[in-house]
Amino acid sequence: MTTAAAPDPRHRLTRDGVRMPRLLYGTAWKKERTAHWVEAALRAGFDGIDTACQPRHYDEAGAGAGVVASQRPRETLYLQTKFTPLSGQDPARLPYDPQAPLAAQVAQSFAVSQRHLATPRIDALLLHSPLRDRTGLRTVWQAMEALADAGSVSLIGISNCYDPAQLDALWRDARIKPAIVQNRFYADTGYDRDIRAFCRANDLVYQSFWTLSANPQLLSSATVLALAAAYERTPPQILFRYLVQRDVVPLTGTTSLRHLRDGLDVLGFALEERDARAIDALL
Ligand SMILES: NC(=O)c1ccc[n+]([C@@H]2O[C@H](COP(=O)([O-])OP(=O)(O)OC[C@H]3O[C@@H](n4cnc5c(N)ncnc54)[C@H](OP(=O)(O)O)[C@@H]3O)[C@@H](O)[C@H]2O)c1
Repeated sequence: MTTAAAPDPRHRLTRDGVRMPRLLYGTAWKKERTAHWVEAALRAGFDGIDTACQPRHYDEAGAGAGVVASQRPRETLYLQTKFTPLSGQDPARLPYDPQAPLAAQVAQSFAVSQRHLATPRIDALLLHSPLRDRTGLRTVWQAMEALADAGSVSLIGISNCYDPAQLDALWRDARIKPAIVQNRFYADTGYDRDIRAFCRANDLVYQSFWTLSANPQLLSSATVLALAAAYERTPPQILFRYLVQRDVVPLTGTTSLRHLRDGLDVLGFALEERDARAIDALL
């Protein structure tokens, strides 16, 4: 008799069968402490990191050094980085030739990411923000598709895409469809209701950032406070857990050992469906 494998509560399978951790460690703004915190997160039990080839906000080489220092086998980890267009880069610290054609900028940026992360294969590459003109966006996307064709990256996706029509246009234009949307999760965009519905309908993974910092009103709401008391968890844990149950992959870039553990604990308990619905009603 064969028994079905128990579902893995720490990962979700993407449309293409890639195992993505349900909670990712974010590496922005840690500067020279990046390696330290990435190593700490991976040793604590996080299985995936988010970084970017954007020296203005990320020390991608530090993230790679942290991965190596953790001594975690590569196949147990999910590594995600980004291509940042020129408009998002610090002109004094560019990771690619600004005069090169767009497609070459993507290839150069990705080669730097491979070097920084000390791996030929990266699990996911995100376009950090959509280019304003559709031709530029198409060119960059095709360069990302070429990296996927070569087997250098398993998933491609987009970040800071808040216009459902733009996501829909990219979806229709793309030969390799986006697998991920990584967005700010907050009230100003109606919590991306339409974008998240698109993700559900087409099996893209929606990843959230600013999840805690942009939502003090949610975290201090009577509903979340009551659930925190009932489940004996913190309000951030309740919000992260709610999102995990709604198939969102939150990012946390905590620099506190206690909050690293709190984050991992989120994968070890579940909200009753009626409690998750009570949070639905706040969004
Ligand atoms: N695609 C993009 O454009 C973009 C933009 C921004 C961020 N990101 C990604 O998202 C990651 C996360 O960034 P973020 O802006 O969401 O914020 P964050 O760096 O996770 O931190 C937000 C605040 O939340 C606190 N915090 C984190 N976990 C907590 C917990 N379990 N309990 C209580 N407090 C907690 C942190 O304090 P402590 O350090 O004290 O825990 C910090 O003050 C970044 O590192 C980056 O990878 C992407």
